[in-house]
Amino acid sequence: MSHFRYVDGELHVEAVPVRRIAAEIGTPFYCYSSATLIDNYQAYAKALGALGVDVFYSLKANSNQAVIRTLAKAGAGADVVSVGEMHRALKAGVPAGRIVFAGVGKTRAEMRAALEAGIYQFNVESAGELEALNEVASALGRKAPVTLRINPDVDAKTHAKISTGKSENKFGIDIDQAAQVYSAASRMPGIEILGLAVHIGSQLTDIAPYRAAFAKIAELTSTLRKGGMKVERIDLGGGVGIAYRDETPIPLEDYARLVREVIQPLATRIEIEPGRSIVGNAGILVSEVVSVKEGVSRTFVIVDAAMNDLIRPTLYDAYHAILTVKEPAKNAPVEPADVVGPICETGDRFAEQRPLPPLAPGDLLAFMTAGAYGAVMSSTYNTRLPAAEVLVRGDRFDVVRPRPNYDHIIGLDRVPDWLS
Ligand code: LLP
Repeated sequence: MSHFRYVDGELHVEAVPVRRIAAEIGTPFYCYSSATLIDNYQAYAKALGALGVDVFYSLKANSNQAVIRTLAKAGAGADVVSVGEMHRALKAGVPAGRIVFAGVGKTRAEMRAALEAGIYQFNVESAGELEALNEVASALGRKAPVTLRINPDVDAKTHAKISTGKSENKFGIDIDQAAQVYSAASRMPGIEILGLAVHIGSQLTDIAPYRAAFAKIAELTSTLRKGGMKVERIDLGGGVGIAYRDETPIPLEDYARLVREVIQPLATRIEIEPGRSIVGNAGILVSEVVSVKEGVSRTFVIVDAAMNDLIRPTLYDAYHAILTVKEPAKNAPVEPADVVGPICETGDRFAEQRPLPPLAPGDLLAFMTAGAYGAVMSSTYNTRLPAAEVLVRGDRFDVVRPRPNYDHIIGLDRVPDWLS
């Protein structure tokens, strides 16, 4: 059951009417549902738990402390891609031993900080990074626990900007060079080489690319073992894609069956780093209509959220369903409208020619499925205040990130003496 639904004609998140939150804290704001977060995490735990798969929630999708804490309490570890995210995970209560550090450009300072914290694993993406990590760890008198991220040269069949598994993408070590780098790693004093990692892209709705990538990883594992190497961990990367519009997500049971068939026989520890499928449908962005402009060729609904709050439509032409917070009458007419923000760019558009009921200033809209890669990708472009963030649990809601004020934002700048 969705925790976002109309009750008595008003959109609710769990038992809280969205309108009540808007009245108390103003718009725009993100609103997350604890129950959805937990359901989504449990779905992974249930489908993959029997295979002994460890779930590391990918913080990049949404790194609010309250979200991380909710998931950590449910049992999730954390997948981080910067030391900033590592600090967020630690602060939210994820033990260092449950943190995986991935990412294509870890600096030496980041490596040092993560080693000192004692994280569970580094997913290393190149021979150069491996050498740097070896040096940093050796200088600290430590051994860094490492998996090598392999680029399997598989087309994930997702949006080009979030496809990562082809050899022309910047990610991972080319599969043809993997055995050589793995063997070099096994001789480095500062490296404990433990296994392999693979992530071919995000928002996958076809299981075939996973099958192709996992098969290549299984084959590589056998080759490495024949060469006398130990392979004890396999990290399968991000989670499955989700439904924004009419996509059919890969059922987790199908994904689990694939893992059971291709990866489990290798008898390694198995890890997964889902982000979007945990938080995506657990969040909405709520915005108020500022004005409605009847143009010559189009109607523009101008709202108080903008591309600085939710950049996915601008960046990836992403679709987010738009609901009116007041449930439209069953027979209400719909007319196509462009839903746009106030930013001075044509790309500041949430939807083009979207069928919507008639709208007026003051009406509240909800951009659905905005919990992943929403708030975390926001900015203060046009000196706009970032949206507040709210977490609902049952019939209560709490502000989990207040909207900053202008002093907070403008006060970060410094005017040099010589300008005074
Ligand atoms: N692991 C690695 C190494 C990744 O690069 C990613 C996502 C994940 C895990 C989590 O993948 P997920 O389970 O969320 O699919 N901003 C884009 C998505 C970027 C994804 C980047 N990497 C969007 O809004 O669609």
